Amino acid sequence: MKFFIDTANLDQIKEANDLGILDGVTTNPSLMAKVGVKGQQAIMDHYAKIAEIVDGDVSAEVFSTTFNEIVEEGKKLAAIHPNIVVKVPMIKDGIKALKWFTDNGIKTNCTLVFSAGQAILAAKAGATYVSPFIGRIDDSNWDGVQLIEQIAQIYSLQGYKTEILAASIRSPLHIVQCAQAGADVITSPLDPILGLLKHPLTDIGLAKFLEDAKTMG
Ligand code: G3P
Repeated sequence: MKFFIDTANLDQIKEANDLGILDGVTTNPSLMAKVGVKGQQAIMDHYAKIAEIVDGDVSAEVFSTTFNEIVEEGKKLAAIHPNIVVKVPMIKDGIKALKWFTDNGIKTNCTLVFSAGQAILAAKAGATYVSPFIGRIDDSNWDGVQLIEQIAQIYSLQGYKTEILAASIRSPLHIVQCAQAGADVITSPLDPILGLLKHPLTDIGLAKFLEDAKTMG
């Protein structure tokens, strides 16, 4: 399972990349706004900076919602760097645009996916990645991890090539559950990734080993 970081914060991207286990980055308009990027050129420059840090796919989301505009915006984003993946919302014009990008050799990530039916449409359109938002599903009283299992089963039965990118991750447990459910990729903020390191018995065990090491001079 690949690890992507879900942020536009360059320091956090560097920190995750320095761990040596980072395979890519995802962003969305909310995450870009959070780091204070304003204006089209600044947005393009920010994606270029991210792509320079990480050797892997970088999802850049379109702000448009009509077919022609999504295609035009996506072409500009894809031209920034070979690793840019155009992130397109799960709407009717988005599906049409996904198919256009597929036919024109541009990688895509279909975002805002909350059902197996939406995931089937994204795969039919040839999306490189499909992003089910598991945390937001949990927030609305459904089971996000169960959706990952369902999509994994359908994609395997049908032979769809689209990779399942579990998004809206909220905890280290989500990451473990997604690995178990058959996700190809998780995209997570930095904290849940670092949370995977933690176990009190590791801390207690290390403290004892270091104490005993001192007695040996
Ligand atoms: O990038 C999309 C997704 O990961 C958003 O997560 O926490 O805003 O639901 P969240």
